[in-house]
Amino acid sequence: MSGAQDFFVVKAEEDGVNVIGLTRGTDTRFHHSEKLDKGEVMVAQFTEHTSAIKIRGRALIQTSHGEVHTDSQS
Ligand code: TRP
Repeated sequence: MSGAQDFFVVKAEEDGVNVIGLTRGTDTRFHHSEKLDKGEVMVAQFTEHTSAIKIRGRALIQTSHGEVHTDSQS
Protein backbone atom coordinates (compact mmCIF):
# COMPACT_ATOMS: atom_id res chain seq x y z
CA MET A 1 0.00 0.00 0.00
CA SER A 2 1.49 3.34 -1.00
CA GLY A 3 2.51 5.63 1.84
CA ALA A 4 2.47 2.95 4.53
CA GLN A 5 6.04 3.60 5.70
CA ASP A 6 5.67 7.35 6.00
CA PHE A 7 5.95 8.33 9.62
CA PHE A 8 5.35 11.79 10.94
CA VAL A 9 5.87 13.35 14.34
CA VAL A 10 3.69 16.00 15.95
CA LYS A 11 4.95 17.77 19.07
CA ALA A 12 2.37 19.91 20.85
CA GLU A 13 3.57 23.37 21.91
CA GLU A 14 0.41 24.21 23.83
CA ASP A 15 -2.39 22.29 25.52
CA GLY A 16 -5.24 21.00 23.40
CA VAL A 17 -3.53 20.47 20.06
CA ASN A 18 -5.65 18.28 17.78
CA VAL A 19 -4.23 15.80 15.29
CA ILE A 20 -7.05 14.90 12.94
CA GLY A 21 -6.83 11.94 10.59
CA LEU A 22 -8.57 12.12 7.21
CA THR A 23 -9.69 9.05 5.33
CA ARG A 24 -8.07 7.64 2.21
CA GLY A 25 -10.20 7.11 -0.90
CA THR A 26 -13.00 8.93 -2.67
CA ASP A 27 -14.62 10.03 0.58
CA THR A 28 -12.36 12.45 2.48
CA ARG A 29 -13.60 12.85 6.02
CA PHE A 30 -12.36 13.02 9.59
CA HIS A 31 -12.01 9.59 11.17
CA HIS A 32 -9.96 10.25 14.29
CA SER A 33 -9.06 13.19 16.46
CA GLU A 34 -6.25 12.92 18.97
CA LYS A 35 -5.77 15.61 21.59
CA LEU A 36 -2.24 16.40 22.75
CA ASP A 37 -1.22 18.56 25.67
CA LYS A 38 1.93 20.71 25.73
CA GLY A 39 5.06 18.62 25.33
CA GLU A 40 3.21 15.51 24.24
CA VAL A 41 4.41 13.87 21.06
CA MET A 42 2.48 11.71 18.61
CA VAL A 43 4.35 9.43 16.24
CA ALA A 44 2.11 7.97 13.54
CA GLN A 45 2.00 6.76 9.97
CA PHE A 46 -0.01 7.38 6.87
CA THR A 47 -1.88 4.14 6.40
CA GLU A 48 -4.48 2.32 4.35
CA HIS A 49 -7.07 4.31 6.31
CA THR A 50 -5.29 7.65 6.70
CA SER A 51 -4.13 9.72 3.72
CA ALA A 52 -3.90 13.14 5.29
CA ILE A 53 -3.78 14.85 8.63
CA LYS A 54 -4.88 18.22 9.84
CA ILE A 55 -3.30 19.88 12.88
CA ARG A 56 -5.08 22.45 15.02
CA GLY A 57 -3.10 24.47 17.54
CA ARG A 58 0.58 25.31 18.06
CA ALA A 59 2.74 22.37 17.11
CA LEU A 60 5.92 21.25 15.42
CA ILE A 61 5.38 18.71 12.65
CA GLN A 62 8.26 16.63 11.34
CA THR A 63 8.08 14.48 8.23
CA SER A 64 10.57 13.00 5.79
CA HIS A 65 9.98 16.16 3.74
CA GLY A 66 11.10 18.45 6.53
CA GLU A 67 9.53 20.21 9.46
CA VAL A 68 7.03 22.98 9.91
CA HIS A 69 5.43 24.92 12.72
CA THR A 70 1.71 25.50 12.49
CA ASP A 71 2.31 29.18 13.21
CA SER A 72 5.18 29.74 10.76
CA GLN A 73 4.75 32.53 8.23
CA SER A 74 6.71 30.93 5.38
N1 TRP B 1 -6.54 3.52 12.75
C1 TRP B 1 -5.81 4.62 12.12
C2 TRP B 1 -5.13 4.09 10.83
O1 TRP B 1 -4.65 2.96 10.82
C3 TRP B 1 -4.79 5.13 13.12
C4 TRP B 1 -3.96 6.22 12.58
C5 TRP B 1 -2.83 6.05 11.86
C6 TRP B 1 -4.18 7.64 12.69
N2 TRP B 1 -2.30 7.25 11.51
C7 TRP B 1 -3.11 8.24 12.00
C8 TRP B 1 -5.14 8.45 13.30
C9 TRP B 1 -2.99 9.64 11.90
C10 TRP B 1 -5.02 9.83 13.18
C11 TRP B 1 -3.95 10.42 12.50
O2 TRP B 1 -5.07 4.82 9.85
